Amino acid sequence: MKIAVAKGDGIGPEIMEAVIGIFNAAKLPLEYQYVDMGKWVFDKGFSNGMTPEAKETIENLGILFKGPMETPKGKGVKSVNVTARKTWNTYANDRKFQTLSGVDTVFSKAGVNIDLTIVRENIEDTYGGIEHMLTRDVALARRFITRGGSEQVIRYAFEMAQKKGARRITCGHKANIMKLTDGLFLEVFNEIAKEYPNLKADDVIVDDLCMKLVSRPDLFDVIVLTNLQGDIVSDLCAGLVGGLGFAPSSNIGDHISIFEAVHGTAPDIAGKNIANPTSLLLSGLNMLRHLGMMEKAALIENALLYTLESGIHTGDFGDKSIPAVNTTEFANAIIENFGKQPKHNPKPTLQDFDFLPTNSQITENPMLLSKQPYEARKILGADFFIECELQPNEIAKIALKQATDTLKLVTISNRGTQVWPTGSVYTNLVNQFRIRFETDATKALTQDSIISLYSALSKDFQISSVELLNMWGDKKAYSLAQGQ
Ligand code: NAI
Repeated sequence: MKIAVAKGDGIGPEIMEAVIGIFNAAKLPLEYQYVDMGKWVFDKGFSNGMTPEAKETIENLGILFKGPMETPKGKGVKSVNVTARKTWNTYANDRKFQTLSGVDTVFSKAGVNIDLTIVRENIEDTYGGIEHMLTRDVALARRFITRGGSEQVIRYAFEMAQKKGARRITCGHKANIMKLTDGLFLEVFNEIAKEYPNLKADDVIVDDLCMKLVSRPDLFDVIVLTNLQGDIVSDLCAGLVGGLGFAPSSNIGDHISIFEAVHGTAPDIAGKNIANPTSLLLSGLNMLRHLGMMEKAALIENALLYTLESGIHTGDFGDKSIPAVNTTEFANAIIENFGKQPKHNPKPTLQDFDFLPTNSQITENPMLLSKQPYEARKILGADFFIECELQPNEIAKIALKQATDTLKLVTISNRGTQVWPTGSVYTNLVNQFRIRFETDATKALTQDSIISLYSALSKDFQISSVELLNMWGDKKAYSLAQGQ
């Protein structure tokens, strides 16, 4: 089997060499095709950080094993790591965190065993990077949570939990506040949970989840979260098991999957052959298991665990009274320990299987994710976001000129808090208001009527954006203002 390999920047080439050395010693049936990605590719003028040949190779082979990569600062270019994950729709970021003997943490010392998998949605949320300055003082980011995107990642999490024989699968969310976005994610989780009656599925609000993870991490098994919350919670979990150096990461998609270390390029130690290759090696082991090479993955992981248990360590961790080894020596120690079993948590040797991509069907055009049918769809009004320094009562006086018996001015809010018709003098204002015109639920408006209203309002206000207020069936598809 052929896979694409990108060595990365900084310590990337050193740790990649160490890991490929371990793979070669284990006689893996893998062939490596090296591709050009990273800082020097940006420097050559490729604005996405990869050459067209690299892109073609990765798309043909479907598997990318990569070292960390640097995004040049101040050049306005986007991270090649994020570009790769998004372009190839690697929707599930699977990060495993386990107690490792030889890596001391407060939990290992207390005898609390950690074996957690965080599945983070990898494409949507605020990571769409759709941001606008609405006024000189107000920045806005759009947060997309979609049914199709949520279904992909949540289904992956359930399938993985089932294969793992997980004790529990938990949805982390903030649906108590973000009722529509996090609410949709949680709704999809609950729907999919019904298809897996043998798995204990539950949900925890993300702030409570953080508190519980740092006090009783052993109570959790698989946790699925939206992108930003998952980003934060997964680094928190890395801290529980000894830091980012011990946290592997897989980015799973239907056609292409990317396996990478989660730490960066460590420029402070690059070129010294002292970096710790464990995170990249664990990511590589995830890749072997993804490809069905269960036996070899267990052989290498048990050798790694045995090595850690015997106190061998690079300079960034471990018992300081034992001299540190360098990257090459660490890799060689693992190779020498092939066939040995660690005392704690040895990995079972599961049966190999033939790798089949989840969905090998390649279409000519990008795929449209699932689309829900509408029942009785209508427009009830619109939110106009305006730049204005007047007081709410003065804004209302002007806006009310456009109100009719059917289309009423119902609320004005500032940063989401209602400031008209009722409000508090203690609410601080910024120069960006939302004015909401709405008709009652028995009526319906047309887009043309909203455009006419836009046109009329634009004579008095600078309008930065508009959102329609939709109603589907008997359900309003928008939230109330705080205090409305
Ligand atoms: P970093 O993870 O590179 O370094 C943070 C600290 O951890 C440093 O002291 C470093 O020496 C140490 N460290 C990291 N990995 C290590 C290892 N394997 N062995 C021993 N020590 C290790 O984070 P930083 O400094 O914020 O980022 C440096 C560069 O890496 C930036 O250009 C950033 O954009 C890039 N980066 C790339 C990522 C990727 O490719 N997925 C992820 C994170 C950062």
